[in-house]
Amino acid sequence: MACGDYHARRIGIRDERTCLPGACAGPQDRRTANTARADPTVGGIAMHGRKNLGFGFLFLGLFMAAGFFLGFMHDLASQKDEWIAQYASGTHFETRIAHAHGSLFGLINVAVGLVLLKLPVPASSARWISWLALAGLLMPLGVVLHVSLGVPPALVLVGGVSMILATLWLAREAFVLRAATRDGAE
Ligand code: HEM
Ligand code: HEM
Repeated sequence: MACGDYHARRIGIRDERTCLPGACAGPQDRRTANTARADPTVGGIAMHGRKNLGFGFLFLGLFMAAGFFLGFMHDLASQKDEWIAQYASGTHFETRIAHAHGSLFGLINVAVGLVLLKLPVPASSARWISWLALAGLLMPLGVVLHVSLGVPPALVLVGGVSMILATLWLAREAFVLRAATRDGAE
């Protein structure tokens, strides 16, 4: 199968940026790309996004587990009336915010990881987007450190801003991709 055809079917577009020499051999090549662990580049293409998938699922798992703590405190704990009464403030509020944002920011990292692994985002942008999305995980982590150890919420701000930058940058790359595809068709 021709290089362009293979990638056109794989990611739904035709773009010469995806077709570096030796990188487009076919299905065998895709298997190699998806399992490469030690080497972050495959056939000259940088493999960004793997860390986002790993940490994304890790955060999703850990912060989902916090949901059981929330359920326990709500339904079973001896001090449950007191807990329910502070729904909109204090430890209850902050633990729920950590649970919600840890799970959701984990999912965003999973989405970013998949997009970076599948779409031909230029390597330098992909590296920045990947690290910014990972830094975004400091947001829920910061909430946990704040509620458990009283750490000032600076990490929450750094994480929040990083995640916003990552998503806006990825949006830009997606629009550029569309423009490149359209130009190619004309
Ligand atoms: C095993 C998995 C999960 C368990 C046991 C769980 C449990 C809970 C519980 C008990 C609450 C209520 C907290 C309260 O009363 O203050 C809650 C709220 C919430 N959870 Fe989960 N959860 C799970 C997974 C998830 C996932 C995967 C997400 C998002 C991707 C999520 C997002 C939220 C959000 C946004 C709220 C707040 C809802 C609101 O404001 O009313 N949860 N969860
Ligand atoms: C820069 C990033 C973000 C910051 C700083 C932030 C901050 C906050 C804050 C302070 C609250 C509490 C609002 C209140 O009740 O007074 C909140 C609630 C919430 N946020 Fe975010 N958020 C961010 C991103 C997101 C994203 C990306 C999602 C979804 C994908 C999300 C989903 C939610 C949900 C579901 C709640 C309601 C949780 C509850 O009250 O139980 N947030 N957020």
